[in-house]
Amino acid sequence: MMYHNEAKLTYFIIQTNKIAIFVPIIIKKDFMFNFFNKKAASKLFYNTDIHSHILPGVDHGSRDIATSIELLKDQIGIGISNFIFTSHVTETTFENTPESLKASYDILTKAIKDEGLDIKTAFSAEYRLDEYSLGQFAENKIVPMPNDFILIENSFQQELLGLDDILFDIQIKGFRPILAHPERYKYYGYRHQRYKQLHDAGILFQTNILSFAGYFGSQAYENAKWLLEQDYIDFLGSDIHNKDYSNSIIDFLSTKEYRKIEAKLKDRILNDTAFDF
Ligand SMILES: [Fe+2]
Ligand SMILES: [Fe+2]
Repeated sequence: MMYHNEAKLTYFIIQTNKIAIFVPIIIKKDFMFNFFNKKAASKLFYNTDIHSHILPGVDHGSRDIATSIELLKDQIGIGISNFIFTSHVTETTFENTPESLKASYDILTKAIKDEGLDIKTAFSAEYRLDEYSLGQFAENKIVPMPNDFILIENSFQQELLGLDDILFDIQIKGFRPILAHPERYKYYGYRHQRYKQLHDAGILFQTNILSFAGYFGSQAYENAKWLLEQDYIDFLGSDIHNKDYSNSIIDFLSTKEYRKIEAKLKDRILNDTAFDF
């Protein structure tokens, strides 16, 4: 049996070997979407996304304004109304400055207004802890998130020598470091005590929602589950770079795994309470 959908008129086609019988019926579109097509997308249980690469043209996330608007609409569709844009600041590859980020943000802000999107936004960055970023910290060329939070990331190869002292210095400057996707640093997979040390030192943890979908591999998945069980997850983030992230998040929202994460984290994470826009 197949079906066609034109407005609210639906034809069921019952096929036998020789004949096809068209049976017209009228069904409300919502009903059809839910029962015959695919499930309506579920919503996230929080409204603030604190990690994304939606600013156009400044890293390997969105490459132009049209893409940025499309990614924003995807996120709005699953319940996000507050965005903190966190483009990469990384030595050699994405040596962004407060000025380069602001220029991109201004362009996007205008496009958001032109599109009539009813959202709150702020921009900051995802600071890779390397010589370039540390130089920017030394010169106070940093764009913090609202309320002086700072999204930082480690090298994916190895932990930076003297990481604890560096983080302490950042805290002394008055910033509140959030470690991006702690689950993705494979070298912590067999050193879970480092998670405890960092978290006990006041470093907040932001896990990528797609890590729970296996999007970043089995090690990141296992680490994310461990962090969840230990109550070490303070924020969730999309870390959205492109349409594939969008689609994968939307798919993940209809899984049982997502429901478990929602139940565990909905009264714990700080996405909607930590920032004044
Ligand atoms: Fe990252
Ligand atoms: Fe990121």
